[in-house]
Formats: sequence, structure tokens, C-alpha cells
Amino acid sequence: MSRALITSQVDRSATLEPAGEIGPDSLAVECSARQLADLEMLATGAYAPVMTFMGQDDWRSCVESMRLADGTLWPIPITLQLSASAVPASTSEIRLMSHGRHIATLAVSERFTPDLHREAEMVYATSSREHPGVAALYEAGDLVVSGRLSFHALPRSFAGPEYLTPFETRLAVEQRGWRTVVGFQTRNPVHRAHEYLHKVALELFDGLLLHPLVGETKSDDISAEVRMRVYKALLDNYYPQERVLLAVYPAAMRYAGPREALLHALSRKNYGCTHFIVGRDHAGVGDFYGTYAAQELFDKIDPDELGIDIIRFEHSFYCTRCEHVASKRTCPHDSSQHLALSGTKVRSLLVEGETLPAEFSRPEVAAILAEEYR
Ligand code: ADX
Repeated sequence: MSRALITSQVDRSATLEPAGEIGPDSLAVECSARQLADLEMLATGAYAPVMTFMGQDDWRSCVESMRLADGTLWPIPITLQLSASAVPASTSEIRLMSHGRHIATLAVSERFTPDLHREAEMVYATSSREHPGVAALYEAGDLVVSGRLSFHALPRSFAGPEYLTPFETRLAVEQRGWRTVVGFQTRNPVHRAHEYLHKVALELFDGLLLHPLVGETKSDDISAEVRMRVYKALLDNYYPQERVLLAVYPAAMRYAGPREALLHALSRKNYGCTHFIVGRDHAGVGDFYGTYAAQELFDKIDPDELGIDIIRFEHSFYCTRCEHVASKRTCPHDSSQHLALSGTKVRSLLVEGETLPAEFSRPEVAAILAEEYR
């Protein structure tokens, strides 16, 4: 709780530049949803100090030692992967397009063939294609290109007042007079354990940044639009409005567990957070990571270097004896009294057409989710 907000008025969003003439060695590439999400994170400064797609030195250092080539802590490569067969050797610039609109231009200064198997093993701790992040990595292309990136339009994944760049978020935090802000990442339909984490955090800090991820997720996750709708319903009914800021986090989900938790924390620092919540199996998928693997990674990192304090939560559940959400730290009853609360469990109940019980979800949330799954 010691860390206080250091507001910086520096807006690291890209300055838009006019697109130049299209030369003979210019190649147009229609971006995937993941590439667009990365572009958006780079354009808004959400991945600062990473401001362009990484070259080989940063890629290697990041994969091998979780640092950029200059030593800065950074856990996951942000690279532009393309298919080598689609990029002639003479290509000097790549026009990055979204639905035919020219978003950005990469002046190619470097191209290399990454060892994707090594990247998977080091970053995702598995090379299995069963892992959705690894499968996406293998499919994204065998060539990496890098160079100076100039933006001609800001990619924007979400329309609405909940779209705030890191700079706009820091201003909003400042306007509210918060000195401590705790960030909450989520990709799942909100359930009562999430709410418990939020409410405990609200007891301790000035403000809560609810920051649902709205970039691409695996196909059985709920859509970003629904994720936001349920959050609004919850906020309207159960939260002190003036202490919570709801805004979208445009990144795509990589499901890289501990390393992605670190990426989430570093990025939320750019959004002005002084603290960041990491609960059970943060950014995990299936059984690829241990329940507390993300928290254990943070145990090995110098908090001063990290620059944002991690608020750890144990696995939380609904206890039928206590009649509220608790964890082993607060509840003495045995597991037969406990209802496990997780996104996976919520999804499986909805798929079976069951109404979510009040122990799982607030009725306003359950109604939206039931309608969505029907
Ligand atoms: S995540 O992929 O974004 O991590 P999710 O939206 O389910 O998935 O989780 C958001 C945050 O809440 C993460 O920090 C996660 O560890 C935490 N969390 C989710 N469910 C629980 C739970 N039952 N107990 C403790 N922490 C939880």
C-alpha cells in the first residue's frame, strides 16, 4: 500500500503522420485481429517503452531473459510475424491495413526467422499446439520484420466512452484525486469471486481501474461487447461509482500465464495504476500453469524495478456456511461447503442452459449472460 501515484503528463500516443507515396518495394498487408491489437497497444503507448515491433536483439533477449536488449524488464515479444513467402526480399516498407484502411507503415530495417519453438517453450512454458497462445504464435508466420513504425490513423478496437488511452486514463485518475489506483485485468464474465477481489481492493485503495481486455480471445470466451455489458450492469447496481473507473484494455489475450501477468502489470503501470491484482491462475488456460505460478514469478522480481505493487489473492470461493465469498485465509470450513467460482465453470453452466445461481453471479449479470447463451 506504500506506492503512491506518480502522474506523468507525457502523452506517449503516436503522432499521426501523412502516408507517403507508395514505392515499388512497398507491400500492403491486411492485419489480423492480433496484429491490430498489438498496433493499438503500440500506438497508444500502452506498451511503452516498446514503441514498435521488436527486432532480433530485443526478441532474443526477451525470450531468453525476460528483458529487452537494453536490460528493461519485458516478458513477451511484441513482433510483427508474417509469412516469408509473402514478403519479397526487396520489401522496404509494409503498409499495415485494417479492412482496406491504411493504418500504419513499417519502414523495414530488419528481417529474421525466429525460433518459434524456443519462443513457445520460454514464453508459454510449452510448445504444445493445444495451447491457444502457442497455436496462434505458430500460425502467425515464420518471418519477423521490424523497423520504424509511423501511424496514419489510430487503430481503435472499441467505440464508446470506456475507450481511454493510457494518457487519458492517467488524466481521469488525476481528476478524481486518487493517489492509489489498483488495476484489475479480466477476460471472463464477471463472477462473485471477481467482485470480492474488487471490493477488498476498494477497502484499501483510493480507486479501482476495472480494465476488461477487449482484444481477441479464444473462441469459447464471451465477446468483448458482452464482457463490457455485464460490467456496466454490475457497476450500476453494486459499486460506488465515484471510486471505480471502467475502461477497455485493447490487447489480445495470449494465455501465457505468468509472463502475461507481468506484461499486464507493466502495461497497467502506463495506465496510471500503482497496484495490480493477481489472483489464481492469472492469464492461464487449461492446466498449463500452476494456480499461483504468476504470483511466484512476481516473487522473483525486485519491486522497485517492477514499479507497480502486486496485490495477491488466494483462490476465492463461495462458502455456503459463511454465506459469502471467502478464501482459505478467511474461511474455516472444509471444501464440501465451497462452490468454486471460475470463468470456466460459469461458461459450462451457461452452455448447459442453467441459470447461474446467486452464489455465482449477480442476477443482473446472470440475465445478460443467459440471454447471450440462449
Ligand atoms: S484472466 O485470464 O484475465 O486472468 P479472469 O478474468 O478469470 O482471467 O481473471 C481476472 C483476475 O481475477 C485474475 O487476476 C485472476 O487471477 C483473478 N481470479 C479469477 N477468479 C478467481 C478466483 N476464484 N479466486 C481468486 N482470484 C481469481
